[in-house]
Amino acid sequence: MKTASIVAAAGFVTCALCYKPLVSSKKLQNLVTLEDLLAGSQDLQDIADANGGNRAFGGGGHNATVDYLVKTLEELDYYDVSTQQFVELFSAATVDFTAAGTEYSAGYMTYSPSGQASGSLIQVNNLGCIVADFPAAVSGNIAFISRGECTFAQKALAAKSAGALAAIVYNNVPGTLSGTLGGVGDYPPTVGVSKEIGDTLLAAIAAGTVAATLDVNAIQENRTTWNVIAETKGGDHSNVLALGGHTDSVFAGPGINDDGSGTIGILTIAKALTKFKVKNAVRFLFWSAEEFGKLGSFHYLRTLNGTISGNASEVAKIRAYLNFDMIASPNYVLGIYDGDGSAFNFSGPPGSGTIEKDFELFYESKGFPHVPALFTMRSDYAAFLENGIPSGGLFTGAEVLKTEEEAELFGGEAGVALDENYHQPGDTVDNLNHEAFLLNTQSIANSVAKYALSFEGIPAVNSTLRKRHAHVQRHFGHLSARGDYGHSHVHHGPCGESAVVA
Ligand SMILES: *[C@@H]1O[C@H](CO)[C@@H](O)[C@H](O)[C@H]1NC(C)=O
Ligand SMILES: *[C@@H]1O[C@H](CO)[C@@H](O)[C@H](O)[C@H]1NC(C)=O
Ligand SMILES: *[C@@H]1O[C@H](CO)[C@@H](O)[C@H](O)[C@H]1NC(C)=O
Ligand SMILES: *[C@@H]1O[C@H](CO)[C@@H](O)[C@H](O)[C@H]1NC(C)=O
Ligand SMILES: *[C@@H]1O[C@H](CO)[C@@H](O)[C@H](O)[C@H]1NC(C)=O
Ligand SMILES: [Zn+2]
Repeated sequence: MKTASIVAAAGFVTCALCYKPLVSSKKLQNLVTLEDLLAGSQDLQDIADANGGNRAFGGGGHNATVDYLVKTLEELDYYDVSTQQFVELFSAATVDFTAAGTEYSAGYMTYSPSGQASGSLIQVNNLGCIVADFPAAVSGNIAFISRGECTFAQKALAAKSAGALAAIVYNNVPGTLSGTLGGVGDYPPTVGVSKEIGDTLLAAIAAGTVAATLDVNAIQENRTTWNVIAETKGGDHSNVLALGGHTDSVFAGPGINDDGSGTIGILTIAKALTKFKVKNAVRFLFWSAEEFGKLGSFHYLRTLNGTISGNASEVAKIRAYLNFDMIASPNYVLGIYDGDGSAFNFSGPPGSGTIEKDFELFYESKGFPHVPALFTMRSDYAAFLENGIPSGGLFTGAEVLKTEEEAELFGGEAGVALDENYHQPGDTVDNLNHEAFLLNTQSIANSVAKYALSFEGIPAVNSTLRKRHAHVQRHFGHLSARGDYGHSHVHHGPCGESAVVA
């Protein structure tokens, strides 16, 4: 079209003439405003509101989020923007649960099959991770199992082996409970209930037989979705800084902190970066289906590789990966992934310590405290760690309660979840912490500016170190590319503590 080509030509001439300075931390930080962060978050809120209140993989809210990102990034005319389409198994359900004549709310465990079960609610010993934990009475009845230590899938399989008609997992921390079984399997109908309901029903079981019915009405079908990828046209494309956040929410809510905050944080940096030249290319990665088990990021790394153990050259071009999943939690801590392993004895690939240190220096230079965050492997950095790519990022906390120590450091309320709206309807634009959101996005600007100029201190990906992080499968009980359950983030505590699992 004529008009369009004139506009494009004019744009080209303007751009060819315009001088862009090399990016610098200060200048990039100066372009980050709270107003923009909140406006972007409001856009995601509006998308959720127009699509049944969520932006979950497989639904209209997620489709619209992807469209929004593509449109916004393309308009900047600074990036090569692409979508990576893929198909994954979608699963959702309605759940009806009645016990002792009372209806209780229960959360679906993604990939649980449909089914109806009626029987007594039988308390399982310990944490229900092995069949021996299940009393004989479970057979033909409904197993009632505590969250903790092993995955929901392990509990569900053990329940089935013990002859249970269904499995109900009750939370071991305040709040409702849903999650994922990680993929289809030979599971009984499986759901989660809150700690409060758990306590009520455990008391009822102690007092006598509790008759219960569970009805899970699930659909499972393949659905098409997309990762969104935007790489600076300029810069060295063999030495790439990658940064990412996930674009999907859970079904329960709009997901504006989880992970609207990371999405809008890096999108804001993508906009600001257009004012500058970079030496190293910068690749923004917006992941789909994280909440179904980090499906988008693992799909991306698999295709980048050929197979996960295949072509290393495309992988090795990514010199560092920065992950931003929840950076504006209402009762926040300023968490930095423990790249050097000094806090949790679980480090990222060589160079991850430098990434951590650079983040630390940023907060220290501004007079802010920070705490280390464990790589729990429950967000999209996991795919990068498995590929030996130096990684890091920020995390302000999810369901874990704030300690007294942290309240002293950061303010906020001890004994309250870092984000009490985590995976809940209340994860809205109104519940973001503005101070954390702004500061953390400035922190992203600082690291992006630094690595867009130089990867000094970050060694090239060593292909013999790839898959080194596969050992976390043992470290955390079990994990796999597919067999996870979204991210139950923690930021402290020893590796493998029960709170981080299931
Ligand atoms: C989302 O996009 C997919 C692929 O184009 C489409 O099949 C699906 O109908 C869309 N979903 C909604 C709810 O619009
Ligand atoms: C989803 O697609 C996979 C791969 O093509 C196929 O094996 C599977 O049967 C499909 N599942 C459903 C529920 O359609
Ligand atoms: C590996 O990736 C390079 C591009 O970086 C490509 O030229 C080559 O064909 C790939 N090799 C395989 C076996 O896929
Ligand atoms: C740290 O982890 C390694 C294995 O990854 C283990 O061999 C070592 O004992 C651990 N050190 C401490 C102090 O826990
Ligand atoms: C890669 O890692 C291996 C194992 O630690 C080491 O022997 C080798 O020297 C490293 N290669 C490079 C180029 O750093
Ligand atoms: Zn998240």
